[in-house]
Amino acid sequence: MNPRILVIDDEQPMREMLQRLLEDSQYEVSSARNGEEGLALFDQEPFHLVITDLSMPGMDGIEVLRTLKERGPHVPVILVTAFATIDTAVEAIKAGAYDYITKPFEPDTIEITIKNALAHKQLVDENRQLKQRLDDVEKKSHIIGVSPKMEEVFHLVEKVAPTDATVLIEGESGTGKELIARRLHQQSTRADEAFISINCGALPETLLESELFGYEKGAFTGATTAKEGIFKAAHGGTLFLDEIGEMPLALQVKLLRVLQDKHVLTIGGRKSFPVNVRILSATNKNLKEEVAAGRFREDLYYRINVFTIHLPPLRDRVEDIPHLLNHFIKKYNKEFDKSVATISPELMRFFKDYHWPGNIRELENYVERAILMTEGTHMQLSALPDDIQQVSPVGAGKRREAFLTSAVLSREPRERLEFPDRTSTKSSRNTASRRGGKKPITVEGDVSSTGSGLLFGSSPTGAIRGRGAGRGRKHAARGLSGLPQCPAGKELPSP
Ligand SMILES: Nc1ncnc2c1ncn2[C@@H]1O[C@H](COP(=O)(O)OP(=O)(O)OP(=O)(O)O)[C@@H](O)[C@H]1O
Ligand SMILES: [Mg+2]
Repeated sequence: MNPRILVIDDEQPMREMLQRLLEDSQYEVSSARNGEEGLALFDQEPFHLVITDLSMPGMDGIEVLRTLKERGPHVPVILVTAFATIDTAVEAIKAGAYDYITKPFEPDTIEITIKNALAHKQLVDENRQLKQRLDDVEKKSHIIGVSPKMEEVFHLVEKVAPTDATVLIEGESGTGKELIARRLHQQSTRADEAFISINCGALPETLLESELFGYEKGAFTGATTAKEGIFKAAHGGTLFLDEIGEMPLALQVKLLRVLQDKHVLTIGGRKSFPVNVRILSATNKNLKEEVAAGRFREDLYYRINVFTIHLPPLRDRVEDIPHLLNHFIKKYNKEFDKSVATISPELMRFFKDYHWPGNIRELENYVERAILMTEGTHMQLSALPDDIQQVSPVGAGKRREAFLTSAVLSREPRERLEFPDRTSTKSSRNTASRRGGKKPITVEGDVSSTGSGLLFGSSPTGAIRGRGAGRGRKHAARGLSGLPQCPAGKELPSP
């Protein structure tokens, strides 16, 4: 495909001259008579480069340049000016112009500038893609799961990733919904395009709307410049609507319209533009119940939910815990320059026995903290926060032993932190050693059903930190609410 260039100039002879010159050099050219027309064209189709005149009636070149940089920051812009002063040149470069050219110019001058700008853009694009791929590889290899339930998840991911079907990812807070969304994108045909994520629960309705759809300059008080919405930014790629269950009903209607029409109308805009975006969503609510309660639109529910991937809570996949521990211990050893290599049976027992209301995020936070607290190579229960130590199995009575499930619980004083790729705990009949490690006990059936009355309520929220911007804390807090609470160190009465 030949590079596409947009020429914006109010003088017809100049437009025509540039058009001829550039078409002769095998570029595809569109031209506009003023800034407004140019921006409208820019919104409709992708361009590799823009050439704009500086002084035009209406929007001048610097204004056009600023708006272009907001809407497509990676597209180089060349300014053409009749009176180059140092001031305008500095202003243009500051506003993000690739270069400027003074009229009159030789054809060679503009051709060389264009060539350089396009080569530069290609380098920047390649660099960005490489970086994205590196990030992806990094993240991709880090989804840990050997339990049959996670195998099922991986199987489903492999099947649906290459399609364009919408996927709803359900699961409690911290179970890895975002990680799975990214994996779906990485394994899709859109992997080289953008993956954009927005948390529908974190923004008030009006802000969420303008983030999603964008707005025109003057669309409302305070809209001093136009803004590109994330639907546009995700064009060609994947849009991840996190916490979709929190989306207000009025916005659900607008979202549904976009999904049906495959066109987006910016706020205050008069013309809609086509979007090609794959939608992934996540929720820690039961959306079916939300539909029944009238809080979520049924038609939207079916639109976003061609496939459902349910991420099981960590307490239902205890087999994964040693592998996750191994992974996070390695990660934080490296990060904090530590050398933890073994953990005590009590600590291992805690990890397997605990109810994990904040799931993997909570586990990761405990490991991070414990690594920081550990001097030397052996990690012990005392590395956990005090309140959590008190609800550890060591201080607990018999009922809690019903939680012990995996054969990995050691009878030796220390556990080595190396695990095979797969554990052999697929059978529903799991064995575990009793405290003291002498007499193994056998647990029948699913752990979650046996242990439903044993929830430790002493608030671990303080220890739960999100990986970013305080989100984790909020989510974790939500994950904990609704659980029966009991004072630290005490057990809930047996049912
Ligand atoms: N299977 C896994 N292997 C390794 N790390 C994981 C796994 N699942 C989750 N994590 C890690 O746990 C943390 C929480 O994961 P993520 O943010 O994807 O969860 P979430 O379900 O989106 O949570 P929330 O509902 O709170 O937004 C992240 O740091 C993530 O890297
Ligand atoms: Mg999330």
